[in-house]
Amino acid sequence: MTFQLAQIDATSKADLYANLAGQLRSLLEGEHDMIANAANFAAVLYNALPDLNWAGFYFKQGEELVLGPFQGQPACVRIPIGKGVCGTAAQQRQTLLVDNVHDFPGHIACDSASNSEIVVPLVRGEELIGVLDLDSPSSARFDDDDARGLNALVDIFLESLEFRL
Ligand code: SME
Repeated sequence: MTFQLAQIDATSKADLYANLAGQLRSLLEGEHDMIANAANFAAVLYNALPDLNWAGFYFKQGEELVLGPFQGQPACVRIPIGKGVCGTAAQQRQTLLVDNVHDFPGHIACDSASNSEIVVPLVRGEELIGVLDLDSPSSARFDDDDARGLNALVDIFLESLEFRL
């Protein structure tokens, strides 16, 4: 299968995320492998969203998050649940928007270019399976529209993992 990410001429973030939702659905359709779908999802985000320097996943293993598929500079591999932006979002099971990562207590700096960050927890049923993390070199790059849009994309990713006969 080949997939070409379509050029997006969105006039608002809501439009952009609605377009990406359609493209992500087509891309993940018929595939249930978590690593493969996470890798393609990270590639879509990194290539379609402006002003990012990192986009990727950490998956829960015991009391830690472990690096998964991503685009960007090499990153720290293990983050304890409750530590950093990723570990805090995982512990609280809430999307975290951080306008200035240097002001976030315990922020884990993987790429010195990062100035703002958004982390969306991946919750399947009752189970936390990991987080989606996006970093930007700009301050306050992410807002509530990004939080809504990314949560909708995460739902498409989580649905793709459900095994169907
Ligand atoms: N900054 C994150 C660590 C992961 S990297 O940004 C890729 C944190 O504080 O959890």
